[in-house]
Amino acid sequence: MLSMSDKKKFSGKIGFVLAAAGSAVGLGNLWRFPYLAAKFGGGTFLLIYLVLAVTFGFSLMLTEIVIGRKTGKNVLEAYGSLHKKFTFLGYLTALVPIIIFPYYCVIGGWVVKYMAAYISNSYGAADPTTYFTEFISGVGQPILYLSVFLLASAVIVALGVQKGIEKFSKILMPVLVVLSVVIAIYGLTVPGALRGLVYYITPDFSKFSFQAVLAAAGQLFYSLSLAMGIMITYGSYMKKEEKIESCVRQIEIFDTAIAFISGLIIVPAVFTFSGNEESVLTAGPSLMFITLPKIFSGMKLGTLFAAIFFLLVFFAALTSAVSLMETIVSFIEDKLHLKRITACGIVALFSFLLALPSTLGNGIWADIRIIGMQFLDFFDFISNTVLMPIVALLMCIFVGYVVKTDIISEEVEKAESFKSKKLYTIIIKYVAPAFLLLILGSSLVSTFFK
Ligand code: PHE
Repeated sequence: MLSMSDKKKFSGKIGFVLAAAGSAVGLGNLWRFPYLAAKFGGGTFLLIYLVLAVTFGFSLMLTEIVIGRKTGKNVLEAYGSLHKKFTFLGYLTALVPIIIFPYYCVIGGWVVKYMAAYISNSYGAADPTTYFTEFISGVGQPILYLSVFLLASAVIVALGVQKGIEKFSKILMPVLVVLSVVIAIYGLTVPGALRGLVYYITPDFSKFSFQAVLAAAGQLFYSLSLAMGIMITYGSYMKKEEKIESCVRQIEIFDTAIAFISGLIIVPAVFTFSGNEESVLTAGPSLMFITLPKIFSGMKLGTLFAAIFFLLVFFAALTSAVSLMETIVSFIEDKLHLKRITACGIVALFSFLLALPSTLGNGIWADIRIIGMQFLDFFDFISNTVLMPIVALLMCIFVGYVVKTDIISEEVEKAESFKSKKLYTIIIKYVAPAFLLLILGSSLVSTFFK
């Protein structure tokens, strides 16, 4: 008979890689990467990003996957099972998805709303700024859409690792690639787009700065879904014969390719349809829900383009949300000895309640501020700016100095020789901690001393 833990496994390499890539490819690729690339000298930023991906990003992601596979445990218990004194790190890491998942569903709900509006052709000639602010400051509509998004994630997670997460990733990720290539090509054929393309890919080395390197490291860190317990959880579902090093490379290629392609969609589009390009290209919700709709409305076949674009965004956000929810469900299931479906129900309900302040904070609760921030921004700040760099830093210290990197190489070498072992050790012990401290410091400074 299959025990519970036998059933919770990815069927093979493709399933694992696509599920992990599904987690990695998310809103960050679409609404932040193009902005950063444009800001920090186009090709220059791409080069910095690539170098960091194969060093810094590679090492951190490999570490998390190995911790998961080696222990076979959920994030809450994984660290403690390697070293009793580090049980707290599991709990600290588990806090990250608990905080992020609810507000990610709020934003996911906005994506569903826009997708529905463009597919049903009801966006119309609305003023994009008014349309967006009126929508998110409402009560019923945003709650309805966030519920739809949350429910979609919950259904996939409830179906299980192979029948839910793996199966959906195997469908959604290839579709996502096709959609993004199709609209990038269409966008590039629009007259004037070439100027944007040139701007996006030509290196401008005068923009090379330490700040650019830090921005790339921070983006990479978020984009690879690190320090959220996700890769530990997915790693725990990986079979022992799978080659971890090559999986990490493939996930990174996938993630970086989609980030690059989204720049091909967004940068030329912004250049074509607006006079003053650099100031128009922003990051985050204002880019996705205000600037782009403005551009779509002036474009030939704009509604079709927008519908495909938001479908793509929806797939990207959904597979990321699924990975967050799975991380939580996995430890609730194990810790409380619950059935998956019960654990899903509890997590869904709890996350729904936690999402309420984040959505209402854009409207009727806008006056309630925590350290000057609305709820959604506050949750984003605590998780992304504070907890995640600290969690990753502690993980580096744990692996580099407490349990030592040999336990990592042993696990990698179960299936292949660990080619980057030397480089890996140097990065985990010295380079990554330094970067993480700088990321933590610089984002704290930019939050409080704008
Ligand atoms: N990697 C995701 C992105 O780039 C970030 C993320 C993953 C956020 C999972 C939440 C959950 O957008």
